[in-house]
Amino acid sequence: MCGIFGHYGAFLPSNLIGGLHQLEYRGYDSAGLAVINNGKLSLTKSVGKVAILESKSVGIEVGNLSPVGIAHTRWATHGVPSESNAHPHHSQDESIALVHNGIIDNYADLRAMLVNRGVKFYSQTDTEVIAKLIEYHYKVDLKSALLEIIPQLKGSYSLAVISENEPDRMVAFHNGCSLILGLMDNEYVIASDLAAIIEHTRDVVYLDCGEVIDISNGGYLITDLNNTPLIKQACRIEWDSEQASKSGYDHYLLKEIMEQGESVASTIRNRVDCENKVVSLRGLDTVVERLKSIDNIVLLGIGTSYYSCKLGEMYFEELTGKPCKAEMTPEFRLKKNTITDRTWVIAISQSGETYDTIHALNEAKAKGALATSIVNVVGSNISRIAEAGVYNQIGPEISVASTKAFSSQVLLLLLHAMYFNQVNGVSNSDQLFVELAKLPDLVKTTLEASDKCKDVASRFCDAQDIYYLGLKYSYPIALEGALKLKEISPNVHAEGLSAGELKHGFIAMIEEKRPTIAINPSDSVHSKTNNAIEQVKARSGKVIEIITDPASNSENSILVPQTHELIQPILCNIALQLFAYYCSVQNGFDVDRPRNLAKSVTVE
Ligand code: M6R
Repeated sequence: MCGIFGHYGAFLPSNLIGGLHQLEYRGYDSAGLAVINNGKLSLTKSVGKVAILESKSVGIEVGNLSPVGIAHTRWATHGVPSESNAHPHHSQDESIALVHNGIIDNYADLRAMLVNRGVKFYSQTDTEVIAKLIEYHYKVDLKSALLEIIPQLKGSYSLAVISENEPDRMVAFHNGCSLILGLMDNEYVIASDLAAIIEHTRDVVYLDCGEVIDISNGGYLITDLNNTPLIKQACRIEWDSEQASKSGYDHYLLKEIMEQGESVASTIRNRVDCENKVVSLRGLDTVVERLKSIDNIVLLGIGTSYYSCKLGEMYFEELTGKPCKAEMTPEFRLKKNTITDRTWVIAISQSGETYDTIHALNEAKAKGALATSIVNVVGSNISRIAEAGVYNQIGPEISVASTKAFSSQVLLLLLHAMYFNQVNGVSNSDQLFVELAKLPDLVKTTLEASDKCKDVASRFCDAQDIYYLGLKYSYPIALEGALKLKEISPNVHAEGLSAGELKHGFIAMIEEKRPTIAINPSDSVHSKTNNAIEQVKARSGKVIEIITDPASNSENSILVPQTHELIQPILCNIALQLFAYYCSVQNGFDVDRPRNLAKSVTVE
């Protein structure tokens, strides 16, 4: 939610816009930037997408720019999308500007306190309170003022601040929302995530919670809140800017769907030795002994990551025989749980920054559970909270709707269950290894169904409702398929159901204008799914089928390759991703920027 970008060095406002474009998937309600021009702070803001700010900022007169600039793309939490609520926010004397990601929980009390002291407010945001507090405490040193006010702010957030009184200085603070520093020669960028940094540099420092960066005089210093300098290791990023671009595709979403042959291969690479039937998860090396004393497994996630947990739950129970529970993190945090020091808790998150998943993982860790993670974004919060963990290794996922991350998460959960067996001396099925070796090619074959998915989408994209039906391993796919359509083509109401629920209520809804997508591979529940389909058809319901049997192919079916029952959901889901993509395009939605959504939900 919200993206922060800052540049220190010789730059133009267009550098700030470039950074915002890369962060736009985090929020696009409004955007803004602040520079210091001829010694005066200058703010430009606009409502809507970054492109609007871009055209507005073309006219900014660049006289004598100081080497600092900050910028922000907003996902509204406090206050409607408007220019006055857009960041950067400024002090009353308009000398200090600030961008912020996250929420200040006690902003209302702080605002009331400042109003009592005569401070005037122009916005409805929690962020303005920080700018005004800094101003209230500012004497001659921006960082000292920031360090003074931090103890008053409650919540998870990160921020960056500049002042025209110290035009060679940018100060930023990480308090639970990611912030990364990119290093160049006497030049620096800061950003909420890597996508905005890799255009400039691949050498980065990940800030941790409670750390402050102070950039001035061509150098930088990272300290804790007591102003004690910290030595932080710089890392080299493997991603390149090509991976974070659209590579000729119309949308990031299509690019990310189409690159799943490679992303699946890269998830498996060096982890599955099909010949010797060995799974290596080196990220778990340090916790192998603990894996031998585990009684039960809990999988934590939300949204798409929760649906991958639903599959993981079945994998663990089927393959290891240990009790396993998929927990939706906002719910998990509200109820009692039975986690002990013999529970293996795995947090699943593409971004590694999801608020509820972070807090659920912390809670599990505090109870003594073995806490590990499956995360895509290297160095993200969740990966650092976890004691050990595995990265997806699939490159950046930019589109708000998650696709390649899901396939990789599902695969890694399967590998986690197999690894658990291996560590505990239980052998895994040879057939699984055989099918895992074939998977990248099977994914590529599935992607060849793209035209068929487009064709089916052209006939059903204007349906009033679409129901997704699946049984057993296809049930989480029904939920995920429906979520994808809801996110990117919200004109259609979509709902995922177990085919077993059909007669328990949903059957009342069936009519011609409400088609059903049945996920119906030739698996162990094929005949049961067929029965459900017949019952829908008997009530004049139209059915689109995702199938693996070429003999059943028809105008309204999408054929995907047959594989092992546990791996099949990955292939069936790719067909649903393509279907949702083409519905979204044909219905005229902004595929990569679905309304009201943000890529990572870093607030409660
Ligand atoms: O980064 P995470 O995997 O933790 O994100 C969780 C959800 O916010 C995310 O999966 C969301 O549901 C996606 N937009 C789904 O496409």
